[in-house]
Amino acid sequence: MFTNNEIQLDILKKRAFNLRWASVPDGVIPLTAADPDFPCAPEISEAINRYSSQRYFSYAPAEGHSFFRESVANFHSLKRNVNTNPAHVLAVDSAAYGIYMTCKAFIKKGDEAIIFNPVDFLFKHSIEANQGVSISFAIPLQPDVIIDINELEKLITSKTKMICLCNPLNPTGKVFTKTELLLIGQLAIKYNLIILSDEIWSDIVFEPNVYTSIASLDETIRQQTVIVTGYSKSYGLAGLRAGSVIAPNDKIFEILLQASEHQSTVHGCNVLAQVAVAAALNECEYWLKEFIIHLTHMRNICVDGLNKIDGFKCLTPQGCYLVFPDITKTGLSAETLQKKLIEEAKVAIVPGLSQWFGERATGHIRLSFATSEDIIKESIYRITKTINKL
Ligand SMILES: Cc1ncc(COP(=O)(O)O)c(C=O)c1O
Repeated sequence: MFTNNEIQLDILKKRAFNLRWASVPDGVIPLTAADPDFPCAPEISEAINRYSSQRYFSYAPAEGHSFFRESVANFHSLKRNVNTNPAHVLAVDSAAYGIYMTCKAFIKKGDEAIIFNPVDFLFKHSIEANQGVSISFAIPLQPDVIIDINELEKLITSKTKMICLCNPLNPTGKVFTKTELLLIGQLAIKYNLIILSDEIWSDIVFEPNVYTSIASLDETIRQQTVIVTGYSKSYGLAGLRAGSVIAPNDKIFEILLQASEHQSTVHGCNVLAQVAVAAALNECEYWLKEFIIHLTHMRNICVDGLNKIDGFKCLTPQGCYLVFPDITKTGLSAETLQKKLIEEAKVAIVPGLSQWFGERATGHIRLSFATSEDIIKESIYRITKTINKL
């Protein structure tokens, strides 16, 4: 299912933007934005075709169709151990928007929100776009080293409103342990902070690591949590723009619904995206399981291969289809290395710039491995040839 034959580069060259095939010169392999090279599960296209064939695309409810909300609630109740009422699910047009509107709902001018460092740029962007201040919590880069909760507590002030958690963590691939999550949850309760839990990567976890949602730990923590998730990573639906915001607390849900601007129709989740997500969650678990088996194999090839490159040190991610090697010993900055790799190796990567991941990403590059074994091996071969002759 996840072989090179499945990948249609002619289509990707026309459709895959955001630093990927359609955005790079011919001949360059883009291991950039985390968006799979594989087509989605056939059940998803079939569900969209069935819906489209009836030729009605009427307005959906502001909160999302009931078939969508039920599928999402069912998934979180059964697979994430977070008892979820469909009435607490809001269909949104992406996880990115879910993060943005949660910040819009709970961050006022000058309010502080804690983000881990390194982490994907969306938290900082959304906090600052709402005139808040993002407070950086430096965490170990090794996925298996636990965070220092005392250091986190020291960052909390009277202005702190929110703790932003990305689990598994893009870019390091850390999967937080139950103990770490419980300590974070207890801090949030102690200081009455919203926990914004970005769970978009929660399906992509490699054995023996196990995913825990912070909202599954106890009832008080569940009431204080806003889960944001999406379907770009697990099911390859980035361009459909679909996501969910789940808030088990009635009052919090109501504030989020107001902030979403769905009721005014300024925003909302496209009906075909909702159909696609329901099909993914209800019918495509088999596909996701195979995808994770394939990704585990790709991860191992990447880690082995990158560690043989002079000056690279690559730790094994516990989750996410991303590797995040330390490249400081090459003597090059991540930006210089990025240019060299694109020009000489014809491989595009994401440099660990603070604007993407925070300052602690300095000296690292990020590569996505959601592609075929042939493409991964060719990329590693090209990078090795370029760097080892330095
Ligand atoms: C941690 C994290 N959150 C959110 C998103 C955004 O997802 P979506 O495509 O649903 O907007 C991404 C995508 O890269 C991500 O890595």
